Amino acid sequence: MAQIADRGWIGRWERQPTLESESYSDFCEGIRKFAQEGTRQPAMAAAAKATEAAKAKGTDMSRVNDIRAVFDPVPQLAVRARMMRSLQEMTWRGLRGAYYAEPEKYLAELDAYDKKGPGKVEWDPNFVAPEYAQQPIHIQPGGYYADPLAGYWYYDGSHSFFIGQNTQDEGHLSCAKGALVPKDGSVKHVLDIGVSVGQLTVGLKERFPQADVWGIDTSAPMVRYAHKRAVDLGVDVNFSQRNAEDTKFPDGHFDMITSFILFHEVQNDRIEVILREVFRQLRPGGTFSIFDFPYDVKQMPPLMQYAFTLDRLDNCEPYAMEFVTMDFTSLLKRVGFHVEKGPDQIYAVKTIYCTRPA
Ligand SMILES: C[S@@+](CC[C@H](N)C(=O)[O-])C[C@H]1O[C@@H](n2cnc3c(N)ncnc32)[C@H](O)[C@@H]1O
Repeated sequence: MAQIADRGWIGRWERQPTLESESYSDFCEGIRKFAQEGTRQPAMAAAAKATEAAKAKGTDMSRVNDIRAVFDPVPQLAVRARMMRSLQEMTWRGLRGAYYAEPEKYLAELDAYDKKGPGKVEWDPNFVAPEYAQQPIHIQPGGYYADPLAGYWYYDGSHSFFIGQNTQDEGHLSCAKGALVPKDGSVKHVLDIGVSVGQLTVGLKERFPQADVWGIDTSAPMVRYAHKRAVDLGVDVNFSQRNAEDTKFPDGHFDMITSFILFHEVQNDRIEVILREVFRQLRPGGTFSIFDFPYDVKQMPPLMQYAFTLDRLDNCEPYAMEFVTMDFTSLLKRVGFHVEKGPDQIYAVKTIYCTRPA
């Protein structure tokens, strides 16, 4: 490790500002695990019973409002939903409080790291992100974009989302390892889009040490923290605040491009714009490895529709349901990619391998 932060690191995990905040996060993570896994069985059983009763009454469960009328009164589902919402609020409140006890310290730290290497960071105080990228996704106050310290506490909060399964970047490293190499094996330029705090980007540089590796995101707080973390890890990657819809990188520049759980958070009518931009930047034979939530779901069962509806309302995921149900494979093909399925990854994340035909 090139540099030790205040409370040090455990492997690839940078510790939180205080033991108190860490213990609080640990508590939230434990309850989240219980809410997600421990209550699943009784919640599913209660939902099945409510569905049967609704069917017996001839209730049509194809529309969201009808589905809500059946499921909202089920106590096991209501308790589960309340727990998830409250835990999300508690996680952010705890983490924000920890960093905002000493905001100047962290702002000064980011300023100092902006000038350090290896690797560099570019960001522009006048950059304006598209509106969808300014949403308070996951109800993080200020979202990815508006809070200058968002990178720190998004990173910490993400350990909770992955309920402890990604503390050593396990999911990101698996995707870095699984990203598709062009058939001719030549990998000189690599781009990761919508990187947040750059865990996949760092993993890609570790896999391809000779390549020039870039990570872009519309959020300055994200790329600044990503850079800080890469510097601490001693990994020579570059981060830049850019819009994946119009990156300004030259045509055919990249051998490989990746994205990890980006598209389910993009306004649906902008997805094609990003895909066309990726295609433009790939050289013939170049690859685009997409790691994202399930896609091409033709018919969502009522309980799944309900879960996505709550995720939209309680967790500010405005675009995920439409992403999951859109015909993503056809869109990728229409843009010009050759498309193949890859392996499943952490947390129900799927892999799609796209190649720009040679
Ligand atoms: C769920 S996070 C992605 C997580 C990240 N790829 C990782 O490896 O952990 C979505 C990220 O995409 C960024 N984003 C959203 N729209 C974007 C766009 N048009 N261009 C670049 N980044 C974008 C957001 O700022 C946010 O940091």
